[in-house]
Amino acid sequence: MDIKDKVVVITGGAQGIGFSIAEHFASLGAKLVLGDIKQDVLDEAVAKLKAGGTEATGVQCNVSDEADAERLMRSAVDQYGRLDVAVLNAGVLRDGLLLKVDKETKKVVRKMSLEQWQLVIDVNLTGVFLTGREAAAQMVSCGNGGVLILMSSIAAAGNFGQTNYAATKAGVRAMATTWSRELARYGVRAMSVAPGFIGTPMVKHDMKQDALDRLLKMVPLARLGEPSEVAQMCQFIVENDFATGECWTINGGMRL
Ligand SMILES: NC(=O)c1ccc[n+]([C@@H]2O[C@H](COP(=O)([O-])OP(=O)(O)OC[C@H]3O[C@@H](n4cnc5c(N)ncnc54)[C@H](O)[C@@H]3O)[C@@H](O)[C@H]2O)c1
Repeated sequence: MDIKDKVVVITGGAQGIGFSIAEHFASLGAKLVLGDIKQDVLDEAVAKLKAGGTEATGVQCNVSDEADAERLMRSAVDQYGRLDVAVLNAGVLRDGLLLKVDKETKKVVRKMSLEQWQLVIDVNLTGVFLTGREAAAQMVSCGNGGVLILMSSIAAAGNFGQTNYAATKAGVRAMATTWSRELARYGVRAMSVAPGFIGTPMVKHDMKQDALDRLLKMVPLARLGEPSEVAQMCQFIVENDFATGECWTINGGMRL
């Protein structure tokens, strides 16, 4: 699919990887709808795209809310008459060990809370399900086919301190493969992308520095990835019409 003049919705598009994908697709001539929960950051992001001459709108939404997910995807078709690409990127981290055990007494002193589990499931898994379902419904109704890109992570393999996050990212990967099988007959492709550690606010602010330092030692290229490098992979997925059902990794050589 040629990206020029196509309509692209990006969830979590106000900052980080999502905004980098928005800027990259804007440079290729796409029309953009950014969905994000943070109104102020979203307004800034849309203003920046418009200042560069791109047709762009922002929809404040919570991807884990069914009505919001439906409204976001419908707004693209209401505004531009079609929906070609949906990047289901909104995600959160709430890291913690399943059990924290006191070294001396060997007693369990803390557990990953149900709230910590549920928030990550709601946004990263239910949010992708709802926004993906609504995007697919619009694509099928419009009859032009489309591409769904689901943001997974190398943490899908399982990662220390990420019971909640890893479970969602493995689920997202399975959803993309399932949708590739169910939606191919309508010309809709579905892929997942599994980045390694990328230098975005989520990693720089939400991860503990010592954890980040330890992780960088495990990256053969010895650096964080750039959000623009993930955006380039998304471009390739959209442009390559034989890409569907797979999870493509971009990780500087790092494996968990
Ligand atoms: N940064 C990395 O190293 C990395 C690695 C692998 C995967 N990922 C994944 O890439 C995606 C983007 O990560 P990022 O690093 O850019 O994060 P980020 O925190 O910088 O951006 C996430 C965006 O999602 C939005 N968001 C959060 N909850 C939302 C909700 N309920 N509804 C709508 N919007 C919501 C936030 O407001 C924010 O703008 C996430 O799915 C993340 O899990 C990131």
